[in-house]
Amino acid sequence: MQFLRDADIDPSPLTAKRVAILGFGNQGRAQSLNLHDSGIDVVVGLRGGSGSANEAEGSGLKVALVEDAVASAQVVMILAPDEIHGPLYREIEPHLREGAALGFSHGLSVRFGFVEPRADLDVFLLAPKGPGTALRSLYRDGKGMIALWAVHQDASGNAKPLALAYGRAIGCGRAGLIASSFAEEAEADLFNEQAVVWGGVPELLIAGFDTLVEGGVSPEVAYLECVGELHLIAELIEARGIAGMREVISNTAELGGLLGGKRIINDEIRQRMTKILAEVRAGRFAEELRREEADGYPRLEHARSDARGSLLQRTFERLGGKT
Ligand SMILES: NC(=O)c1ccc[n+]([C@@H]2O[C@H](COP(=O)([O-])OP(=O)(O)OC[C@H]3O[C@@H](n4cnc5c(N)ncnc54)[C@H](OP(=O)(O)O)[C@@H]3O)[C@@H](O)[C@H]2O)c1
Repeated sequence: MQFLRDADIDPSPLTAKRVAILGFGNQGRAQSLNLHDSGIDVVVGLRGGSGSANEAEGSGLKVALVEDAVASAQVVMILAPDEIHGPLYREIEPHLREGAALGFSHGLSVRFGFVEPRADLDVFLLAPKGPGTALRSLYRDGKGMIALWAVHQDASGNAKPLALAYGRAIGCGRAGLIASSFAEEAEADLFNEQAVVWGGVPELLIAGFDTLVEGGVSPEVAYLECVGELHLIAELIEARGIAGMREVISNTAELGGLLGGKRIINDEIRQRMTKILAEVRAGRFAEELRREEADGYPRLEHARSDARGSLLQRTFERLGGKT
C-alpha cells in the first residue's frame, strides 16, 4: 500500500494555479479555507442568491458565480451533494478550460456514471475520511485527516502529482494519503454507510433500546445503556484498536461481548452484508439516490420527521441532550 505524507509530496503542481471550489457546505467550507491558509489561490463557486456567499466572503475567500469560478480556474473541485453532480457537471462543462483538472471528494458520481468527464480533463479523487468540520479543526491544530486519492483520467500526464499536491494543501498529507480508485472508494464508502457505521450501528442501538423498553426498563436507563455508551467504545477503539479496547474493559463486559456479539452478528447477517455489497456494486443504491433527488427527497424527509418524534429522541432530550 502506498502511504504518502507531506515530505513525500511535491506541492508545486498547485503553484500559480487557481482552484475553484463548487459548494460551501461541509467539505467545501473546510477545503477552501484549508487551501487558502496553505497559500493557494481559491475561489468559491456558488449559485446566484446562495445563502453561503456572505459566510464565504466573511472568511476572506473570493466568491463568484459557479460558471465564472469554473472559467477562471485550472482546478475545479466539485463539493456539492453527490446526487446533483450530473446536472452540475453538464452546466459547467462548457466553462471548463481546455486541459483543466476536475476533482471530487467521493467517487460515487464518476463510478456510477452521473458524470462523464470530457476527454481533455484530468480527473482525480481526494477523499478525506471524515467530515469537513474535523478536516478544518485538525488543519487549524497543525494536524491532518487521512484521505484516499485516485486518478480516473490522466489527460495531462500530471494528474497524480496534482492530486497529491491538492491533498497536501488541504492538510491530509500530515496524516497520510492512501492510493485507491474511484470504484474502491465509492463502493467501500457506500457499503459502510449502509451496512456498518451509519446504517447498521444506529439500527442496532435503536433495536437494543426498544428491546429494553419493551422488557420494562425505563427509557432513560435503556438510553444510557444502549446509546449513551457508544462514545466510550468509539474512543477506546480509536485509541487502542478493537483488541486493545477489549483488554481494558471489565472481564464481565469482555465475556458478555464475546458471547453475545457473535449471536447478534451471525452468518446470516454476514450474508446480508455480502448482498448489500453486491447491490452497491451493481449500482442499485446510486439509482435510489438519483430517484430520491428527482422526487424531492420524500423518504429522507419522512424518516427525519419520524426520528425527531421518536421515544428515543424524546428520551435524549429529557436527559438534557447529554449522556
Ligand atoms: N459531508 C462529509 O463529511 C463528506 C466527507 C467526505 C466526502 N464528502 C463528499 O464531499 C462532497 C460534498 O459533500 P458535502 O456533504 O460537503 O455537501 P453539502 O454540505 O450538502 O454541500 C452543500 C453545498 O453545495 C451547494 N450546492 C447544492 N446544490 C448546488 C448546485 N446545484 N449548484 C451549485 N452548488 C450547489 C450548496 O449551495 P448553497 O450554499 O447555495 O445552498 C452548498 O454550498 C460530496 O461528494 C460528498 O460525498 C463529504
